[in-house]
Amino acid sequence: MKCILVTGGAGYIGSHTAVELTNAGYDVVIADNLYNSEISAVEGVRKITGKEVAFEQVDCLDKNAMEKLFKKYQFSAVIHFAALKAVGESVEKPLDYYRNNLESLINVLSLMKENRVPNFVFSSSATVYGQPEELPATETTPRQKATSPYGNTKQICEDIIEDTVNATNGTMSALALRYFNPIGAHPSALIGELPKGIPNNLMPYITQTAAGIRKCLSIFGNDYDTPDGTAIRDYIDVTDLAKAHVAAMVRLIDKQNKTPYEVFNIGTGRPFSVLELVEIFEKTTGVKVNYRITGRRTGDIEKIWADTSLANRELGWKAEKSIEETLLSAWMWEKHLRGL
Ligand code: NAD
Ligand code: UD1
Repeated sequence: MKCILVTGGAGYIGSHTAVELTNAGYDVVIADNLYNSEISAVEGVRKITGKEVAFEQVDCLDKNAMEKLFKKYQFSAVIHFAALKAVGESVEKPLDYYRNNLESLINVLSLMKENRVPNFVFSSSATVYGQPEELPATETTPRQKATSPYGNTKQICEDIIEDTVNATNGTMSALALRYFNPIGAHPSALIGELPKGIPNNLMPYITQTAAGIRKCLSIFGNDYDTPDGTAIRDYIDVTDLAKAHVAAMVRLIDKQNKTPYEVFNIGTGRPFSVLELVEIFEKTTGVKVNYRITGRRTGDIEKIWADTSLANRELGWKAEKSIEETLLSAWMWEKHLRGL
């Protein structure tokens, strides 16, 4: 059985991926410092899969602890989710973001080299595209200068990975998955997103408003050049996203990759505006979301969605969930969290 190290595996996307990898027959070791997550997520993964998925509380910045981890297990691959991800916070604390996101990656890649672990999957983001001139965004759409230190860490990390695998004479391969906007929760409602404090992202703000925790959702701008004036994104179900990691793993382990470093967009290809998302949420759940239109949020782009044909073709993966299923899962998770 292949053993996969999942750094940041107690977090939102990592926990869903740990479930899908375990269900696909991989042995999973979750390594997380629980900075932005809780052990309950690991318990959720164990409950859903019925397996004693291993958990190690380590910080990827702690080289000694990470060395021990690589000696304790024989990993066939690493999926590296561990990172700080709050865009606004990254503007205030750039060094924390550069230190955590870059040093963690460098530690992991160095240990992979030392321990001859050949396969690596990285959590990148559609943020690397900025506002593309042509839509949908393909993998060859030029990256634009990052508008935040967080976004910059994703670009630099992609470059570090590419340079590293290119210097290994084919002994190491990597895939960078550029996620569009992950939303929703596992259908069991045992794991989901756990935002700390006031959510920055749209989906948890919608569910918290629906649950009465927030009074009113602010919709940031209705004067964009879009059909209803609100901004457009590509919202991808977190379970679909998790399955893309299994497809990526199969590609690497079966040596199906065409070059040592590959990049894939992971989205649905379906654009939705903020207003559309709110309206579909209300219709699907039967719960009203109190909202008002406010000014644009600094740094926001107008519209982006993915061309996913490369991932569809090469990974044999496709987003399957309907937007209604995804929004319902987000609502079931919020209700579970609040005991509603
Ligand atoms: P998350 O915060 O829920 O998960 C990240 C996990 O990494 C957390 O459990 C945190 O405790 C852990 N972590 C952070 N630094 C660590 C360190 N030094 N050592 C060990 N553990 C550490 O975030 P998420 O939404 O699951 O995101 C996972 C990855 O996907 C991140 O790299 C993020 O940048 C990327 N991503 C997320 C989104 C999104 O919208 N959620 C979009 C694009 C890319
Ligand atoms: C944000 C980050 C991006 C990151 C992604 C996933 C910014 C500028 N970008 O993307 O780098 O990869 O999260 O973590 O922060 N919205 C509202 N009201 C709200 C919240 C959001 O109207 O209370 C709107 C936003 O203006 C946007 C859409 O909803 O149009 C989605 O916002 P959000 O969930 O924050 O994701 P992004 O901004 O796309």
